[in-house]
Amino acid sequence: MQIGRLLHGGDYNPEQWLDRPDILEQDVALMKQAHVNVVTLGVFSWSVLEPQEGDYHLDWLADIVHRLYANGIYTILATPSAARPAWLAQKYPEVRRVRADRTRELYRRRQNYCYSSPIYREKVRAVDERLARRFGGDPAVILWHISNEMGGDCHCPLCQAEFRRWLQARYGSLEALNKAWNARFWSHDYTDWEQIESPAPQGEDAVQGLALDWKRFVSDRHIDFFKFERDVVRGIVPEAKFTANLMYRFHDIDYHDLARELDVVSWDNYPTWHKPAETVEQTALDTAMMHDLFYSLKGRPFLLMESSPSFTNWQPVSKQKKPGVAMLSALQAVAHGSDSVCYFQWRASRGAEEKFHGAVVGHDGRADARPFRETAQVGAALERLAPAAGTGRPRQAAIVHDWPNMWALEGSSGPRNAGLGYWHELACHYNALARAGVTVDFVGQDSSLDGYGLVVAPMLYLLREDFAARLCGFVRAGGTAVVTCWTGVVDESDLCRLGDTPYGLTGLLGLRRAEIDGLYDEERRRCTPAAGAPLALPATQASVLCEVAALAEEDPALPLLTYAEDYFAGCPAAAVHPYGAGRAYYLASRFTPDLYDALYAAAAGQAGLTPACPQPLPRGVLAARRDGLLFVQNCTAAPAEALGETLPAYGTAVWREGAEGRERLL
Ligand code: GAL
Repeated sequence: MQIGRLLHGGDYNPEQWLDRPDILEQDVALMKQAHVNVVTLGVFSWSVLEPQEGDYHLDWLADIVHRLYANGIYTILATPSAARPAWLAQKYPEVRRVRADRTRELYRRRQNYCYSSPIYREKVRAVDERLARRFGGDPAVILWHISNEMGGDCHCPLCQAEFRRWLQARYGSLEALNKAWNARFWSHDYTDWEQIESPAPQGEDAVQGLALDWKRFVSDRHIDFFKFERDVVRGIVPEAKFTANLMYRFHDIDYHDLARELDVVSWDNYPTWHKPAETVEQTALDTAMMHDLFYSLKGRPFLLMESSPSFTNWQPVSKQKKPGVAMLSALQAVAHGSDSVCYFQWRASRGAEEKFHGAVVGHDGRADARPFRETAQVGAALERLAPAAGTGRPRQAAIVHDWPNMWALEGSSGPRNAGLGYWHELACHYNALARAGVTVDFVGQDSSLDGYGLVVAPMLYLLREDFAARLCGFVRAGGTAVVTCWTGVVDESDLCRLGDTPYGLTGLLGLRRAEIDGLYDEERRRCTPAAGAPLALPATQASVLCEVAALAEEDPALPLLTYAEDYFAGCPAAAVHPYGAGRAYYLASRFTPDLYDALYAAAAGQAGLTPACPQPLPRGVLAARRDGLLFVQNCTAAPAEALGETLPAYGTAVWREGAEGRERLL
């Protein structure tokens, strides 16, 4: 899917307006005015595509696809499986999900089909095949969008049977399963596969190996459903390309696994801009972290599939984007590797759940309304940024973010059940690196570490033996690693490692974990620079978890910070250990942001990572790089100086860099 320019458009729901040809006509004219070159069609169209079982109506869709194409607008065509028609749920109750408490849902909402139901798959296959036959070779259709925001789980008898089959394939015998789950605890040894049930509030909720495998299974089921739909279309249109729209900080699916099946990663981005607890820069960093995660999944440009041109209707308070923030947010996506800026939605619906959600065209239909004007400005800017399309990003730093680790970490009762703040932990590292202008990827434990200078392992509680060995090899060969508290604790079944921990990393770090103490939300422990430390770090405060480490007797780490209070005063709170041709940093707790800024300024320099912007930038101004392009964004409400130019409030400058120097593109 290479069309040589950035895509601009969004979810379009003409099925809601089929009785208003005047509006459909106006849409095409307005889209051209807004520099729209793509729309996503069909996401929730099933009840119009197949109003009665086996009675298909695709002409209306073909008319719209072709009218748009005649006006220079491509289609991303969605399969309608995310929301089924009422007749289907009524006639075939098995397609309705069963909740963890074993209640079968009534017909309701969307994204709640049973992914194991053979009948559901048969009905999806039938409608997908018709779409594929009708639109397969159509030059208007540039990409297939499978379903919508897959997620959630189903506990119906069909899924229970699939789960048992999945476990049999994973473990082979009940003996192996019992061992992996340490089922002897509380005498829970299983003697028959039929005894195994998915976790339930009124059932098993304390076998953490079971809970972890259920999450893996559910993730695999979603991916299996994606592959099923993809292969139905691919069977008819071999050259078709596929995406699925992914989500912010999403738990239910291992996106590293899913990404392997996608041609293009896409995601839906709805930051809560302007909340009082956060600056625009902080919200921008939180969003950038997600863009970088989605870029990393395939190491290739992704698509921003949905975003709001103005506000949502589901956040606690629906705040308007202040003037300039729609542009800032759109260009931020491109700066971080998106080849599109798309919206949910083109035109606001009149009724039901999302009638008050922001849209490019509101209920008044006016082209002089702010969301429309700002969207048109974004469209014009994207045309000027066409050289960005398809360009990659440098490989510099990687943060390990691995779904099984997140599931196991959050599912275990341990040193702090009041929350470990896993995503906050990732953000501590990400924000400091991003502010330093370092390009950050997110890798899993299967990913290659080749080409990175710096690898961060934050709270890598479930640390695979092979990854521990690769991390050691990476540092031995000259890389820099940062490893934090609560790393290397359990194996892939959530069984505690026996012997010294962080398992597999004690030689790398030059220390071992002796104890770990949980802190209440309001508790802090002072940490001060260690005497004779080889790197000056600022005094800081520890929070959340305080690991108490014992330095190795031979070849110990060099303390950088020590705890200054509590019974562990004097123990290392941060340390560095030269290892082979590289070095490993150890952080025993979670600290204040300035600690990470100082650590990464030093570590990035030692790792030879050059910042995106050659000159220091004022606070609130962020830089990012794609091949040959430098993006600098002012995330503040006041003008700011960057590279000798003044950026207006929320302004973005883009330079193209070549042998002859730097040329301003935007
Ligand atoms: C997305 C979803 C869209 C729409 C949007 C509203 O999560 O895919 O269909 O509901 O949210 O913000």
